[in-house]
Amino acid sequence: NLKPIQVKLVLLGEAAVGKSSLVLRFVNNEFQENKEPTIGAAFLTQKCKLDDKIIKFEIWDTAGQERFHSLAPMYYRNAQAAVVAYDLTKPASLEKAKAWVKELQRQANPNIVIALVGNKLDLASTARGVSTEEAQAYANESGLLFLEASAKTGEFVMDIFTEIAKKIPLD
Ligand code: GTP
Ligand code: MG
Repeated sequence: NLKPIQVKLVLLGEAAVGKSSLVLRFVNNEFQENKEPTIGAAFLTQKCKLDDKIIKFEIWDTAGQERFHSLAPMYYRNAQAAVVAYDLTKPASLEKAKAWVKELQRQANPNIVIALVGNKLDLASTARGVSTEEAQAYANESGLLFLEASAKTGEFVMDIFTEIAKKIPLD
């Protein structure tokens, strides 16, 4: 099956947790130390291979600043997958992620595949504020995929998208 399978994916999470940086790493294999805040949302696409299939991710990278919150439903409404990101050095950003998960579970497609991602894993040894165990336990009880990753080093960024692709009913 050489025809790409389209997967609409939305990124949600508090401002500055690194949503755009995760996408930039996944799409361009780049990282910017001083990435500017997203205004509204950005749209990007990237293909990846899973077994004999080609998945084309159509990604809406939303703005985390509170003034853009009301735009989010436009982006998650038709999404088959969501990445809800937090900054593992900032416990408040996990609380914000939980609020996004609740909103998705109430308002989005009931079959949406949600991945909870603790970003900035490169800072874990010096500045971790959320334990892996706490986030994993929350993800388990809420039925979410869970990964920690670093947009800066690239560690586990590809895994986010391949784990999602594996959970989406393809064809
Ligand atoms: P909004 O668009 O405002 O919602 O923010 P965002 O979630 O898209 O965050 P963004 O990707 O703009 O990153 C915010 C800041 O965190 C930038 O200065 C990034 O360079 C930095 N950053 C992002 N990911 C990482 C990471 O994995 N490690 C480290 N150390 N810094 C990161
Ligand atoms: Mg952004």
